Amino acid sequence: MLRERQQPPPDIFSPEPWTFGAVRYDAQIAKKYAGQAETMFALANGYLGIRGTPEEGRPAQDPGVLLNGFYEHRPITYGELAYGFPRLGQSILNCPDGTVIKLFVDGEPFLPAQAEVLSFRQVLNLKAGTLVREISWASPAGRRMRLRALRLVSFDQRHLAAIRYEVLAEDADAEIVISSELQHRAPLPGNDSDPRMAVGFADRVLQPAGTRHEELRAILSYTTRSSGLVLGCGMDHGLETMGRFTHEAVCEADFAAVVFKGLAESGRPVRLWKYLGYHYADGCDPAGIRSRVAWTLDRAKQSGFASILERQVARVGRFWGNADIELEGAAPRLQQVIRWNLFQLMQATERAEGHGVSARGLTGQSYEGHYFWDAEIYVLPFLIYTQPRIARALLKFRYDTLDRARARATELGHRGATFPWRTINGDEASAYYAAGTAQYHINADIAYALRKYVEVSGDEDFLRRYGAEILVETARFWRDLGFFSERRGGRFCINGVTGPDEYTAVVDNNLFTNLMARENLRYAADTAEAMRRDHAEAFAALSRRTGLGAEEPRVWRQAAERMYLPWDERLRIHPQDDSFLDKERWDFANTPEDHYPLLLHYHPLNLYRKQVIKQADTVLAMFLLGDQFTPEEKKRNFDYYDPLTTHDSSLSVCIQSIVANEIGYERKALDYFRFAATMDLSDIGGNVMSGAHIASIGGAWMALVYGFAGVRDHGGRISFRPRLPAEWRRVRFALAIRGHRLRVEVANDQTTYSLVEGDDLTIMHGAESIRLTASARTATRANPSRPPEPAPDFAPAPMPARS
Ligand code: BGC
Repeated sequence: MLRERQQPPPDIFSPEPWTFGAVRYDAQIAKKYAGQAETMFALANGYLGIRGTPEEGRPAQDPGVLLNGFYEHRPITYGELAYGFPRLGQSILNCPDGTVIKLFVDGEPFLPAQAEVLSFRQVLNLKAGTLVREISWASPAGRRMRLRALRLVSFDQRHLAAIRYEVLAEDADAEIVISSELQHRAPLPGNDSDPRMAVGFADRVLQPAGTRHEELRAILSYTTRSSGLVLGCGMDHGLETMGRFTHEAVCEADFAAVVFKGLAESGRPVRLWKYLGYHYADGCDPAGIRSRVAWTLDRAKQSGFASILERQVARVGRFWGNADIELEGAAPRLQQVIRWNLFQLMQATERAEGHGVSARGLTGQSYEGHYFWDAEIYVLPFLIYTQPRIARALLKFRYDTLDRARARATELGHRGATFPWRTINGDEASAYYAAGTAQYHINADIAYALRKYVEVSGDEDFLRRYGAEILVETARFWRDLGFFSERRGGRFCINGVTGPDEYTAVVDNNLFTNLMARENLRYAADTAEAMRRDHAEAFAALSRRTGLGAEEPRVWRQAAERMYLPWDERLRIHPQDDSFLDKERWDFANTPEDHYPLLLHYHPLNLYRKQVIKQADTVLAMFLLGDQFTPEEKKRNFDYYDPLTTHDSSLSVCIQSIVANEIGYERKALDYFRFAATMDLSDIGGNVMSGAHIASIGGAWMALVYGFAGVRDHGGRISFRPRLPAEWRRVRFALAIRGHRLRVEVANDQTTYSLVEGDDLTIMHGAESIRLTASARTATRANPSRPPEPAPDFAPAPMPARS
């Protein structure tokens, strides 16, 4: 059910283009939306993530510090176990929280909810990569005080976060105490009524492994019992004040505090700098990890806060240079939302090297910090076109887990490799095979993302060094999973799979899966043959590593050429799978609005036996492999499936928007886009408190670039067919293409292409080929004319009516 759950009161959340924040304090709202605010104001760098809980530690829902890939195993218990079910899950862990700073004025604790707040501002500065909070208040004794806190999670040093905390007694001297803490909280109990939430741990997870305390510094360390990881986290401080301050400290296994006491002289700020270091490693000695934390803190103190902040601003500035999307003519809030979204993509990926990108980035624990296909299909396109280096690192992470994927294929009795549906460490962590292991399409999704990366970035070296091995093993897997069916005239069929639509499970010949597997098989064959021909040495290495047989590429090609693709001649659509059209349609008219998402109200079997779709499936295939469908097929398929799609997954509306745009459904494309773009800041799914929806955010980028600007990149040929919504004036963005940088400015009637880096790039605008060179860097062309909006071939979609 799509609707905005949170329309922020405009007098609290003003729609600024480069900041997101609140300008008025309301204790009730702060309490009610504590969880949402923790996500919306979360800071992260792809490695370290800190939820946006205020320094006082209250109000709070799920405060926390998350490290990408820092997890503990958790036994998965099944009522009835079967062969091949994963026995161990993996869950990201909440680490000790070093953001807590408690303030006491004349013996009374400062809590905004209990104070008389005179002015307030909390701002996520999207240009600087900082979170700023400014409050002035009157203390119960009538003193006027002011607090300014600025925090950041460093993009430059990924193990570092820093806080500048400034207290000012405005009208008279005040005795203050500042207690700066590092607290290990018991893990959250988990939520077993919503399968999307993290499963909790019954017992203590982090085992204390020693502390280190010197002066203003405290470092704690822990081990996990089963995953074998060692964690170190620490804090260090600097204090600047005109008054006399003393300090004392405690440093225990689960709690450390450095407490500063003194007189804040009227009009003279007391400034505290707090540096936080987080490290973890596999099988390291705890003393070693504490040393790493100490080095991070040494480095931070040596460089000082100002220089850390300066580097943050410079790095975030570079990100915007590559990734900004400017919107003219749309509501100011939409520009703000787009920038907040893009910033989330930076926060989820910038320093993730060596790890994947989890479904909620590092903004929340929902889905247990697992990596899904979200990264490859929804986030990688953005990275490929704006930060190819990071796209490469994420694909390299998949390569690094290839051995585990090989082992999983062997366990399941298959050749080649099959990647896990959900994972942190490379092993399958999905407990429900029907919507987990059966989503074999993840193998083809990875191959698809690899191909896009190689074609758009031109990084063939990556393909030969790592990518080809992934392709060989996944092609082998597909060849082994499917078979040439006599009953289907010798066509290659793949049975017993689940496509992206998780409301239809374990089916035969899911169109999406078969099409994507076909691409995977073809790309593997093409790559192996091209390497054999042109790169003998790399080919020899590949053959050594994979035992590639001379005949294999031919066999993969044969499976690809004969791939069975379901088609219904009567409806002239592609059935989503062999049995989909035989099912009864879901009774949408009698489904109460509060029964969405359906997965929380109906047994899976009730969903599986009906025509009801969780998220774009065939429609996604029509976007990803759009050159393999005719315009008529696209329209009829869309018209058939759109009314059946609940969008109960946030991965859906962005894709529907792109395809609606292509077909010419202007209104629908815009409506879907708005839902995708505001998924988090309007809390469309009602669960933003558990983290930002990173795939949907990547999808919203795609809905702008592939949707309204009409970009297509099949086979690495970059083409544009811009169609801007009538109410927008202009959209500007940049794309990195094979070492070139292309600036694109789409207006209502025309589009301007400017080559700002590189000196020879050919693109297509509609049917026209445009070559941009050093001597002709810019070209402006009229946008293709917009045909009148077509009428749907089947019943209209229920979505706009229900929203
Ligand atoms: C969707 C999956 C997605 C996962 C994590 C599920 O609700 O159905 O496609 O990968 O969420 O975002």
